[in-house]
Amino acid sequence: MTLFQRLDAIAVVTLDHPPVNSLSHALRRHIVDALTAAEADPAVQGIVLVGNDKAFSAGADVTEMGTPRQLAEPMLTQVLARLESCRKPVVAAIGGVALGGGLEVALSCHGRVALERARVGLPEITLGLIPGAGGTQRLPRLVGVATALDMILSGQPRSARALADSGLFDAVVADDLVAAACACASRLAAAPLPRARDRQADAAAVRTAVEQARARLNARQRLQPAYGAALEAVAATALPFDDGLARERALFLELVPSRQARALRYQFKVEREAVKLPADFDGAPRPLQRVAVIGAGTMGSGIAISALDAGLEVILLEQDGAALARGRERIGEHYRSRVAAGKMAAAVAGAAEARLRTTLDWAALAEADLVIEAVFEDLAVKQEVFRKIDAHARAGAVLATNTSYLDIDAIAGATARPQEVLGLHFFSPANVMKLVEVVRGARTRAEVLATGMELGRRLKKLPVLCGNAFGFIGNRIYNAYRRQCEFMLEDGAWPEDVDQALTGMGFAMGPFAVADLSGLDIAWRMRKAQAASRDPRERYVPILDRLCELGRLGRKSGAGYYAYADGKQVATTDDTVRALIMQASAARGIERRPLSAEQIRRRALLAMVNEAALLLAEGVAVRASDIDVVLVQGYGFPRWEGGPVFWAREQERATLEQELEGLAAIVGHGFVRGDLALLLD
Ligand code: NAI
Repeated sequence: MTLFQRLDAIAVVTLDHPPVNSLSHALRRHIVDALTAAEADPAVQGIVLVGNDKAFSAGADVTEMGTPRQLAEPMLTQVLARLESCRKPVVAAIGGVALGGGLEVALSCHGRVALERARVGLPEITLGLIPGAGGTQRLPRLVGVATALDMILSGQPRSARALADSGLFDAVVADDLVAAACACASRLAAAPLPRARDRQADAAAVRTAVEQARARLNARQRLQPAYGAALEAVAATALPFDDGLARERALFLELVPSRQARALRYQFKVEREAVKLPADFDGAPRPLQRVAVIGAGTMGSGIAISALDAGLEVILLEQDGAALARGRERIGEHYRSRVAAGKMAAAVAGAAEARLRTTLDWAALAEADLVIEAVFEDLAVKQEVFRKIDAHARAGAVLATNTSYLDIDAIAGATARPQEVLGLHFFSPANVMKLVEVVRGARTRAEVLATGMELGRRLKKLPVLCGNAFGFIGNRIYNAYRRQCEFMLEDGAWPEDVDQALTGMGFAMGPFAVADLSGLDIAWRMRKAQAASRDPRERYVPILDRLCELGRLGRKSGAGYYAYADGKQVATTDDTVRALIMQASAARGIERRPLSAEQIRRRALLAMVNEAALLLAEGVAVRASDIDVVLVQGYGFPRWEGGPVFWAREQERATLEQELEGLAAIVGHGFVRGDLALLLD
């Protein structure tokens, strides 16, 4: 392979490891060899490193992780030292992305030139790490501590256009990247070579910026060690460069094996697995261009927005004109506010809205490749809707229901083509939440499932395959968890004890705050519907029913488990609720004992783990890790704790088994014990 091409006095070194120039051993070797050759060539005055259209370099090579090649020389840090000490100016020409180690390469060059559309960032924090090859030391020296902290703590890439005046780039150009980079290298050759390491930061300014950033961390960030480590590493820019570099390295190496970083790596991997159908269920997806959504309520409008954003045509159908107009308005308002906030170009929003057609005429369904209903959660209503869908949808159309709990087969049975029916369970708000449970009915064809998964991917979501069981994966686990949390109220905890224990480990919200937010009446209605079939020997906590009887339906009625003043939750439960809870304990003959945060967490997690084992045994989940993806993406489980299955795998097996015995005693009649071996082995 040629090491470089010479353009006049500049050696142009092309990084050539498609698709994204990940920093494999071969590429690292190539950079060093090219530098050595260019340095030795008297006709060369400067060097330009350029990637491909997509990427300057997207960072470390994940396929090398944990293999000897990752540590084979030259290691990344050696490449960077070589770049920095090159006697001729080296300029990074960034056309696509420069991320993580890729940006660290660019930071070690003497100059940087980028296309306006290039994107640069240090995403390590999203994997529970910090940049480990000088990113925390060189970036602040170039762009200032505040901007560097923003980039390191958010992990989000920024466009070169937005960073044009930051000090990161010598030039940001619209086109002719290589020419601009060559001109930059020639310019730099005339003077002492600028190196990030030679700039000394102002110690007081560093301290102030770091403390301000620390104060801005939110509660969930504070729980993750990588945020503290990132602040500490950036604070070390006040030290001499090599000391700062050593500090960064030590912090990085400490994070790599941490539970949180392992959990985030695990999530990264299992999310990619979850969206693939196992071979037994896989088929070829059918073409998708036009989607019909029935019901223009909360979910229907969200699903419609999501499909419009993905470039699909949408037919939105309702039963009455007023509801249709409200749905149309909700979608219009969404696009207006996106444009007003500068998040979407007016032309893009206009084009999305132009793909939307609203109608009251069922005959319009004949034009759809996929029909999804999001009407009221009532089996009879859904069956009636599916009879109409069956009458109008064309042959070969995929028919989907967004039901949260209902039996897919009972819905499919209303049609003459149950093999074309599946569940597509979106989460609210449907245009924001990434999870979609793709539910397989008894007769669903493989290609119908594949089309459901494909729709999920087209909508930039995370589709996860589930079997048809009450609550599918997510709500089934959530119900077991919520039920366990209700037991804890009877056993001695207050709602705030439970909620705080769980938010204290990183849950987005506690179960009682969630219940108040979604409204207690939904659960109340379901509990009443199930009352006749409930086994009286089962442990049943009546607190929610009593709250509803008092008109405490949650946040919308001003009170639920908590009281709300000016729309804000009052921190502790009031006397009325405490009295109700104490009555429930007394009725069950329980002597209340306070529960520690740790006891609360373990009981809540164990309830999830047991249900996860049952779901796996029943085939509702096909992979244990899918359960973790569902809980993290749909239920606010802290991503950096990996999910209930990941958690269980971190525990002592014997302790878990023993605690499950305890759980059986707590739950009592009707408890079914899951087989941990399915999850852990
Ligand atoms: P919603 O009450 O906001 O909207 C339902 C819409 O369907 C209404 O506009 C109604 O006019 C329309 N509709 C009712 N019967 C109809 C019929 N026969 N033909 C045409 N349109 C009809 O309800 P939401 O919250 O959007 O829920 C819809 C479905 O999505 C339910 O099955 C629900 O379980 C499910 N779901 C709801 C979630 C949520 O958080 N709200 C989350 C996930 C699923």
